[in-house]
Amino acid sequence: MNSSEKQPIGIFDSGIGGTSIWKEIHSLLPNEQTIYLSDSFNAPYGQKSRQKILELSVKNTEFLLKQNCKIIVVACNTATTNAIKYLRSSYDVPFIGIEPAIKPASILTKSKKIGILATKGTLNSELFEKTSSKIDQEVQIIEQIGEGLVELIESNQINSPKMDELLQRYLQPMLKEHVDCLVLGCTHYPYLIPKIKEIVGESLKIIDSGEAVARQTKNILQQLNLLSPHPNSKENVFYINKDKTVLLHILKGHTNVNIVQKQF
Ligand code: DGL
Repeated sequence: MNSSEKQPIGIFDSGIGGTSIWKEIHSLLPNEQTIYLSDSFNAPYGQKSRQKILELSVKNTEFLLKQNCKIIVVACNTATTNAIKYLRSSYDVPFIGIEPAIKPASILTKSKKIGILATKGTLNSELFEKTSSKIDQEVQIIEQIGEGLVELIESNQINSPKMDELLQRYLQPMLKEHVDCLVLGCTHYPYLIPKIKEIVGESLKIIDSGEAVARQTKNILQQLNLLSPHPNSKENVFYINKDKTVLLHILKGHTNVNIVQKQF
């Protein structure tokens, strides 16, 4: 592929969660035009088979390549841990992925116990198993599947009794185990940080990988001479295949943004 610095950065997620990554990328790389794909119609990916996650990741990639993207950011832990190896071997374009930050957490922890909240698809993936096997073996990882959380976020129910109940159920056992770091292994979960803090207080360190992904995107674009040298004058486009209300709410205050609701 003959990439040029003027082409957009493509970003996809199973839904609106990857906008937490988009915000980091947009703030670090304001010169870049971005195209975001929110596959909310098929969310959540976390309970689907590896094969299905792979198929959806391919479909999302093809969509972004048709929009002429110079790099694809897989802003979804579930898609990264299940599909990025295949995507990298199938397309020439560079891919940036996101994985739960258990390595930094394993270095930071004093209690030698870290908690991770992620989807079933991420926690059961080969890549997650490989990454976990590489950290300090004295550090205990307490895994918790965040079942139901993505659905509530996608349907604008962050501040609902159901969300409070699920978070209590998932986090209290970690507190009892004295974890001192909590890794957010799903790009939807940063939107839960205020709620999580209400339960765990300030003593527990919450770690997510959003900023690191933005830095990695910049590094790769720099290495490939693909960073846009001029301020972006084009719209940042968000494609969503379900109701756009939550996305509108999340992007409030951002200018130069166009939300396109359509089937894909
Ligand atoms: N944002 C996705 C992730 O990071 C959510 C997965 C899902 O749709 O279940 O894993």
